[in-house]
Amino acid sequence: MDVSEAVASRRSVRAFLDTPVPFATVERVLDRARMAPSGCNFQPWEATVLTGAPLKALQKVLLAAQPDDPMEYDFSVPGQYPKYKQRLSALGASMYGGLGIARQSDMRAVFAQKNLTSFGAPVLLLSHFPKFMLAAQWSDVGMWLQTIMLLLRDEGLDSCPQEWMGVYGRTIKAHLGLSMDDTTLFCGIAIGHRDPDHAVNRFERDRVPLAEHVTFLGFEGLGFEEA
Ligand SMILES: Cc1cc2nc3c(=O)[nH]c(=O)nc-3n(C[C@H](O)[C@H](O)[C@H](O)COP(=O)(O)O)c2cc1C
Repeated sequence: MDVSEAVASRRSVRAFLDTPVPFATVERVLDRARMAPSGCNFQPWEATVLTGAPLKALQKVLLAAQPDDPMEYDFSVPGQYPKYKQRLSALGASMYGGLGIARQSDMRAVFAQKNLTSFGAPVLLLSHFPKFMLAAQWSDVGMWLQTIMLLLRDEGLDSCPQEWMGVYGRTIKAHLGLSMDDTTLFCGIAIGHRDPDHAVNRFERDRVPLAEHVTFLGFEGLGFEEA
């Protein structure tokens, strides 16, 4: 699989088969992902990867827990602004529309709760790092996570990034024995094989056109006029 195929075929999978993932595959992907770039080569990423009984034990704890109040970090802020609110609504309409779940239905919350069991994925990577890391390092961790998700495609595997795990950051840190005060629990990556028949893995995903988020300068004479 080339890079373009990996990018095009990755999607956030929200229904997994229970097919186990061998340790060697997970290790190979994470070993290769070490080559992701990071500012100053800090490599600020750290992770705990769970499968089998340890994953089931964590999920049991999560299902019995309450969300953090307040949350350790708030990923929802852009949703207050019209442009981003509209994008979130469009995602909800596509995803829940594909599942046949109406706008006001309680089933939306029921489906969202499936985040806690990572949509049935057999492996969960939990990404965490020292609390003193700032925006630049969070962005480095994002690049590492995307590198992992693309390498997973190369192995025929699928993923779903899960900031939902951050909503239960304190519960997860306590359960894993991570420092409550010195560690940020950023997000999870659910890992496994997609259920190809499930509607939630088949809905159309929107993206804004290039002209709305990129400005090209100086490309006159290089084909810009024809574009
Ligand atoms: C950092 C990050 C966290 C995310 N957290 C969640 C999550 O908690 N639950 C979920 O269902 N999807 C989550 N997503 C998936 C996004 O909704 C998804 O990437 C977006 O809708 C685009 O769809 P696609 O990934 O299928 O292309 C997350 C994505 C990213 C990058």
